[in-house]
Amino acid sequence: MSGLRVPVVEVRLDRRSWRDHLAGLTAAGLRDDPPWIPPVWFYDRYGSELFERITRLAEYYPTRCERSILAAHAGRIAEVTGAETLVELGSGTSEKTTLLLDALAERGTLRQVVPFDVSEEVLRAAADELAARYPDALVHAVAGDYHEHLDRLPATGSCLLAFLGSTIGNLTPTERSGFLDAVTGVLGHEDWFLLGTDLVKDPERLVAAYDDPGGVTAEFNLNALRVLQRELGADLEPADWQHRAVYDESEERIEMHLVATGATHIRIGHLGVDRTLRAGAWIRTEISTKFRTDALHAELEAAGLGVVGSWTDEAGDFLLTLAQPRGTSAS
Ligand code: AVJ
Repeated sequence: MSGLRVPVVEVRLDRRSWRDHLAGLTAAGLRDDPPWIPPVWFYDRYGSELFERITRLAEYYPTRCERSILAAHAGRIAEVTGAETLVELGSGTSEKTTLLLDALAERGTLRQVVPFDVSEEVLRAAADELAARYPDALVHAVAGDYHEHLDRLPATGSCLLAFLGSTIGNLTPTERSGFLDAVTGVLGHEDWFLLGTDLVKDPERLVAAYDDPGGVTAEFNLNALRVLQRELGADLEPADWQHRAVYDESEERIEMHLVATGATHIRIGHLGVDRTLRAGAWIRTEISTKFRTDALHAELEAAGLGVVGSWTDEAGDFLLTLAQPRGTSAS
């Protein structure tokens, strides 16, 4: 071990109530028309591996684009913010974050790193890696849900809260504005918010990014069914379903669907779910909203977050926005 300090892993998520919450949400979604399930079921160990593979696909540009923006502008972001604490929501493997952390460490302000994720397993691995890579910083990981446990962030000095990867695109507009309000609520006036968002573009490229010819995304989508079987005891037939990605032009979002190839059923007895579906019926497994810079910045402003800077990659495919709680300065 090169790190002198052992990472702290704070578990705020009560496993049992989290499971109950997800079960209730999923049951409600499956009773809806059209039925839907939350994207959380993608990310078991195998699904997380599949997502890693997706990020390396030629068709899946967001990860590469965001990384190139960070590579070009992390220094500037470190300089503007002078942040002492970096909190990363949905940190996953924290790979892109190292660009930010390196810049903050180089500038000499970095004192604490806070990876924040629902998966305790992913989090512990990330925390160990971060502790080894930044031996002078304190690593304080938080296992939590960003809908619930965003309060009391363990910040030392000014804090940069990063939400990368366009994960915010998974939220509906209503959820999104609630989330942004919560972000404003937890940040002090010396703190910062860094948001990565995928931008509206040619629908053909969008669909290709979510329906690759090698079938990795299809496998990722279908894996959710196996996770439902295992985690919720769902009675269903994975072989009866097919992956589909569609771009909804009016909502400006990709939707991932699972389409029934023949008559089939989904039953989860203890949750009161008992559905028969005909051929062609579908379940929505994910929305992935695509943004327009002006509208997004207006949303941030409406939530009380003043946009301080924003950057895109060369092709203008992806956007990184730095914002700070606006409001009446006391001094
Ligand atoms: C991790 C939610 C940002 O929406 O692009 C990738 C997930 N789904 N391919 C996205 C995903 C299908 C990804 N996010």
